Formats: sequence, C-alpha cells, structure tokens
Amino acid sequence: MADLGRPRVFVARQIPEEGLDAVRAACDMDLWEEELPPPRDELLRRVAGCAGVLTLLTDRVDDEFLDAAGPQLRVVSNYAVGFDNIDVAACARRGIPVGNTPGVLTDTTADLAFALLMAAARRVTEGDRYVRDGQWKTWGPLLLLGPDVHGSTIGIVGFGRIGQAVARRAQGFGMEILYHDIQPLPASVTEPLGATYVSLDELLPRSDFVSLHVNLSDETRHLINAVTLARMKPTAVLVNTSRGPVVDQVALADALRDGTIWAAALDVTDPEPIPMDDPLVGLDNCLIVPHIASASRATRGKMAAMAAANLVAGVRGEPLPTQVPTPG
Ligand code: DGY
Repeated sequence: MADLGRPRVFVARQIPEEGLDAVRAACDMDLWEEELPPPRDELLRRVAGCAGVLTLLTDRVDDEFLDAAGPQLRVVSNYAVGFDNIDVAACARRGIPVGNTPGVLTDTTADLAFALLMAAARRVTEGDRYVRDGQWKTWGPLLLLGPDVHGSTIGIVGFGRIGQAVARRAQGFGMEILYHDIQPLPASVTEPLGATYVSLDELLPRSDFVSLHVNLSDETRHLINAVTLARMKPTAVLVNTSRGPVVDQVALADALRDGTIWAAALDVTDPEPIPMDDPLVGLDNCLIVPHIASASRATRGKMAAMAAANLVAGVRGEPLPTQVPTPG
C-alpha cells in the first residue's frame, strides 16, 4: 500500500541491501524483483508518477521515459559509473539531475581488466577447457604458448580513474606504459605511473596489450575498427572493459580469425548478452565474460549505497552526492 507521506520511487532491479535499506527508510519503494530487466512497456508504466528512479545500464532513460514518468520526477540515479543508457541532455532540459557511482568501482574494474589481460595472454580459459575436455595427455613443450605479460608494453586508451588504476597494476609487472586520451594529463599524474602520452596511431603498433577505458560517445563508438585493428601488432591482445560498442565486433571477429591480432578479452559486448551465434563466441582466441568488471561483493554494496544516496538526496531536492555533469 502506498505511503502518501513519502516520495514514491521505482528501483529497477534487486541491488545489494546496503542500498535498498536506505531507500526503504526514506521512500515508498516499488522494487522490480525479477532477474531480467523490466520490459520497456512495464518500465514506462512503473515509473509513472514517481519522484525518483534508480536505473541500471539496461534501462534506457530518454524523452519517452521522462514523459512516461511525468513532471514530478526529481532524480534519475544510475547504478553504474557509466551513463550512456541515459540521455543526460534530455534530463537537463527538464531540470532532472542524474546520479552515477564513480570512484568505488575503479580498482575492482581495473582488477578484472588485468585478470582478462593475463587470462588471454596465458590462455587460462583455453587451458581449463582443454583439461575438462580430457585432452591433457602429457606436459608439452609447445602446449598453449602465449606471450609474456611482464616486461611487455601496454597501451591504455582512456586514462581516467580506471585507466590509471590499470597502469598501477602494469607497473607491478614491469610493463612499459603508453596511454592515449583526449589530451595529455598533468605530469603529476603520469610521472608517478611512468606513463607516456602518445597518439592512438602510435599507441596501437607499439602495444602488446591494448586496454580500453573510454566512455561510450559518438567519438568513441567503433573506435576499434578494421582500420585501427590493422595498426595493432599481430601478437597483440585487446582488452575491453569499457562498453561493447567501442569495438566494431564484426571487424574484431575478422581480425581474430585472420591473425591481424592474436587475442581479445571482453567484459562488454554489443549487444549484451552477446548472441550465441555471434562469430566471436566460436573463436578460441576470444575470451568473453558477462559484464562483471565491478562484480565484487564489496564494490557492488558500495555502488548500491551511493546510488541510494543519490536517489534519496534527489527526491528531497538536495544536491546529489555524485551527479553526472550537465552537458554544455
Ligand atoms: C559501470 O558502472 O558503468 C559498469 O559498467 C558496471 O558496473
């Protein structure tokens, strides 16, 4: 039964209790409890009349969504650091702040980027399949060889919080660190990391590992395509923990099949989930995990607490603790 004294909010999925408790304490919460996201028409129906919504990267927030919610909507709180599922400009036009969860998932995401890098290089999932398929007959001098990680060169594309956290891990492996971003970062950031700014054109042919850490935008969509893949070393490994559409997957499948690059490791795909008949699924040199870079218990709990804090602040008309900058 609705509590008329408290703002009504819709929470689009079960999130860790750290967040739900805070929302329950302050709001009249409608929680979508299914494993799969609410279908679009159900989502639009459920947000109608809400003062706040807590969305996930699987929920598209655009003019249609905002119209369905109605003029009383005061906040959109996204349970993610990325916000490419949200039309932030459309929210801004209606004076609706958008919250996200930066900072708390930086190291957890960098851990997974590095895990993928190492697993692809050292063929960990291939080795596991090999054993379980009963193919392990003896110790083999030529069995499942891959490149060394230590002492190699990593090219980090997008040198924000997560890119820098990947660089810290690469330092521990004695790697040469190249990075590319819209512009060079201050020496106070890059010197302690031993990171050198280069153009993307220079980074690609010099790197043994290319790790992507850019936001998805019109500029970064298909940043990795047939042309940029062709600039990479034939021995290179591509790691993507950013957003699937940053990579042209048709071009990537071709590049992995014809040896343009050696391997790829993906946390994100386009679309998600990746269809089982996507050519990448059939390639042994492509490792794919289901968008789990921030999936440690502690980090998901912190993201929940942060998303809840943004939601509650927003419905009260207070500044959000972490608000996505308004475009323009
Ligand atoms: C994000 O936060 O943007 C990740 O992709 C999911 O944690």
